[in-house]
Amino acid sequence: MRIDIISAVPPLLESPLNESLIKRARDNGIVEIVIHNLRDYGLGKYHQIDDDPFGGGAGMVLRVEPIFELIRKLQSERTYDEIIFLTPDGKTFMQSDANELSLKNNLLMLCGRYKGIDERIRQTFITKEISIGDYVLTGGELPALVVIDAIVRLLPGTIHDSESAMLDSFQTGLLDSPLYTRPAEFEGMKVPEILQSGDHEKIRIWRNEEATKRTKERRPDLLE
Ligand code: ADE
Repeated sequence: MRIDIISAVPPLLESPLNESLIKRARDNGIVEIVIHNLRDYGLGKYHQIDDDPFGGGAGMVLRVEPIFELIRKLQSERTYDEIIFLTPDGKTFMQSDANELSLKNNLLMLCGRYKGIDERIRQTFITKEISIGDYVLTGGELPALVVIDAIVRLLPGTIHDSESAMLDSFQTGLLDSPLYTRPAEFEGMKVPEILQSGDHEKIRIWRNEEATKRTKERRPDLLE
């Protein structure tokens, strides 16, 4: 898979994409991630990328020309399965969206800044608008990272234990059951005996019961 990201603030993206599992997936050729600095396509001496909104009002709007030029250049090099705009007025991102996007070959993500982007960019290029929740952030970079993280960990080879991603909270429709590791007793708190019994069938049933209990308590909406 290849993911291109357009951002006016690339440093916001760089460190999270160069650590841990995502770094390993990139190093192993499982995903290629390329960050494009929108400023490089800015207008004039000052590389302007934004301007005042027509009709007045607070905040700046990302201009059409730099984004049109960059997206057209990228489109001349490959075909994108989706061109995604991260925006609070998009559809709320869910595990099912991560699953769907993890099957694509080429994704292009556009991170907004300021008040928003010129509507003509949306009309011309954007195939999917994603929000990561009902709150407003300073830009689309953190949401892009959230979406990329959720996708990349699903790509075969990223997580060694391939079962682990399949059994995640939300994939099974349930939250996870409680987890324990050594020591078996700590400050008087004991690990449930069944987990130390070695009886895999009993453990499976216990985990399922605990997961159901937890989901009922915390997220009854998931059971509906
Ligand atoms: N940009 C600003 N806030 C956002 C959000 N909640 N989701 C996606 N993109 C955004």
